[in-house]
Amino acid sequence: MEKIDLSKYTNIIEVKHPLLEHKLGILRDKRTGTKEFREIAGEIGEYLCYKAMEEAELDDKVIQTPICETTVKRLNEDNYAFVPILRAGLGILDGVIKAIPNAKIGHIGMYRDDENGHKPVNYFFKVPKHIEDKEVILLDPMLATGGSAMDAIELLKEKGVKKIKFICMISAPEGLKVVAEKHPDVKIYCAKIDEYLNEDAYIVPGLGDAGDRIFGTK
Ligand code: PRP
Ligand code: URA
Repeated sequence: MEKIDLSKYTNIIEVKHPLLEHKLGILRDKRTGTKEFREIAGEIGEYLCYKAMEEAELDDKVIQTPICETTVKRLNEDNYAFVPILRAGLGILDGVIKAIPNAKIGHIGMYRDDENGHKPVNYFFKVPKHIEDKEVILLDPMLATGGSAMDAIELLKEKGVKKIKFICMISAPEGLKVVAEKHPDVKIYCAKIDEYLNEDAYIVPGLGDAGDRIFGTK
């Protein structure tokens, strides 16, 4: 199988850290149970969120410390919205809201129709007011064919959203190429680019069905 070259897509950011590798290793292990899986997915999400916010603009604010007056930096949290792609994106949401607790939250419901070509089906869409003025951080632990990510990005763009980032834990080269090519303005932060998609469009080695593992539904 020919390796997909992603080097020209500067909007794909594979975040590297030994602790991420360690935690992904626990998630990949099929013996890892729901509680631990959910906790670690949240931790990875929080770390990726810090990375995604590395260039965030800050405002100056004059405050009083116990010692003196000083000028500190503040993030206008109201400028941000997290949008998990249901269901599995909720597993990452638990972590990212620790990083920006006052960001608004929207939801996009999407499931992959695995009986009919793995195309995503959108069943829910609810986003905060004035979403078009916010930077939206889309959340989904898995980017496989890229279909769900593409549809979610397009739904947000149709709503007038201009700044979008995508956070996922594990991605497949096939799906990354499609999304990065079509949406060069969307930065994709992932903890790992895996090897390939199998005949069922599951990521290899992957971690199985993220939604089922987060919610214990299988
Ligand atoms: C999973 C995952 C993504 C999608 C990725 O969701 O959470 O949303 O598959 O696959 P794609 O890149 O090929 O579109 P799933 O459809 O299993 O729904 P769930 O979150 O409700 O389990
Ligand atoms: N969705 C998942 O949850 N896992 C995969 O490997 C592919 C799609």
